[in-house]
Amino acid sequence: MDKFIIEGPTPLIGTIPVSGSKNAAMPLMAAALLANSPTTLNLIPRLKDIYTFKKVIEETGTSVNFNEDANSMVLDPANLNNTEAPYELVRRMRASFYMLGALIGNAGEAKVSLPGGCAWGPRPVDLHLKGFEEMGINIELDQGYVYASIKNSTVEGGDFTLNPSSVGATINLVLGAVKRAEKFIIRNAAKEPDVVLLCKMLAEMGADIEGIGTDTLTIRKVDELKGIEYSNDPDRIETGTFMIAAAMHPESDLTLTGCRPEQLGKFPDSFKKLGVDFKIDGTEIRIKSTANLQPVSVTTKIYPGFPTDLQAQWATLMTQANGTSVVTDTVYFDRFSYVPELNRLGGKLRVEKNKVTIQGKTILSGASVMSTDLRASVSLVMAAMVAKGKSEILRIYHLDRGYEQLEKKLNDVGASIQRVPQ
Ligand code: EPZ
Repeated sequence: MDKFIIEGPTPLIGTIPVSGSKNAAMPLMAAALLANSPTTLNLIPRLKDIYTFKKVIEETGTSVNFNEDANSMVLDPANLNNTEAPYELVRRMRASFYMLGALIGNAGEAKVSLPGGCAWGPRPVDLHLKGFEEMGINIELDQGYVYASIKNSTVEGGDFTLNPSSVGATINLVLGAVKRAEKFIIRNAAKEPDVVLLCKMLAEMGADIEGIGTDTLTIRKVDELKGIEYSNDPDRIETGTFMIAAAMHPESDLTLTGCRPEQLGKFPDSFKKLGVDFKIDGTEIRIKSTANLQPVSVTTKIYPGFPTDLQAQWATLMTQANGTSVVTDTVYFDRFSYVPELNRLGGKLRVEKNKVTIQGKTILSGASVMSTDLRASVSLVMAAMVAKGKSEILRIYHLDRGYEQLEKKLNDVGASIQRVPQ
């Protein structure tokens, strides 16, 4: 296992290119299994989660050719002959559960392992399963596996309301419905750009989906979907992460390129209140930081609200604000595993239920800290970059899941991060 040695404090000065979205790429890869010919996907990031999902898909007999230098992937399900997604792969990466919808769509049957929990607690899939049953899919559970099957090639469909709204359940149900359900309505559907991109790609492949971009999707089955060439979105969470990282140090002047600022939802509204100078210019965002960072309390919400995937990063930033702030997570109530580690670096954070109160400004100083999950890990890297002295970030494999070439991107703009074997 590798670790990072980080010397701080360092401002971030220069330009960072944003990579393709991790969370948008995987649904597109799953959708390729529904086509009757090969699909080419562009802007696919080189991330551990992508390689894990590639393995899960190849288990089915589907060929996946990833041209890493070009960030381009060709998937051909012509030889798909195995409808199982095994535990040893699904447990590593929750999004593998999308194979349930993809295999129902492709073959009308599936045997998919239930995903494990994750660093911050249980993450149920009850809405996925209830939605498929409402659609008319036969769902059985046995020894940690979901067995899905249908009697005929199509199912009647139905009308299903997600409560709470769920990105993964929306994606899974859409994947399962487009070639199988006479008519299936998903109410309170997630509207994250990841979901919209999937629906747009499926529509271009020939799917019949009404209400794309709204919280009510109506799907009517089609018999065939054709393979196409399609581009992934840039990663909106990576974009938000680097914007926050730039605001951590008073002298940072960072430009992000290849962004889609319109996919940041309401995040820029909170960012504006920091007192940081930032400009959006097409696909570029420039952040010039300030010594007088304002405390800004935020509450996470489903899209287009403040994303839960930026919650840890924002709380970390608030350690550098001149005043006290509160960060509330209404999507995940216990996603605060980074707090004790941040306090080891000198932060003054206190968690109460699904809220963390942050006292600022605190001068952080280097220490050894432990990564626990993807967004917690990048928050510790951000803190270590402004902490005085040397920090060690252990278990950085979490980072490799979701941030392409992180240390290169940050070192290119002035950070001092060294990756060493632990
Ligand atoms: C996706 O996870 C993302 N992962 C998460 O990003 C992100 O935090 C989350 O959406 C919320 O935006 C991927 O896209 C691979 P949900 P997902 O289903 O789909 C509850 C990252 O850091 N729920 O929208 O699993 C659930 O417990 C990752 O990149 C049920 O109750 O999230 C949560 O409270 C972490 N039953 C809420 O819904 C279900 O069947 C939202 O979860 C499903 C979900």
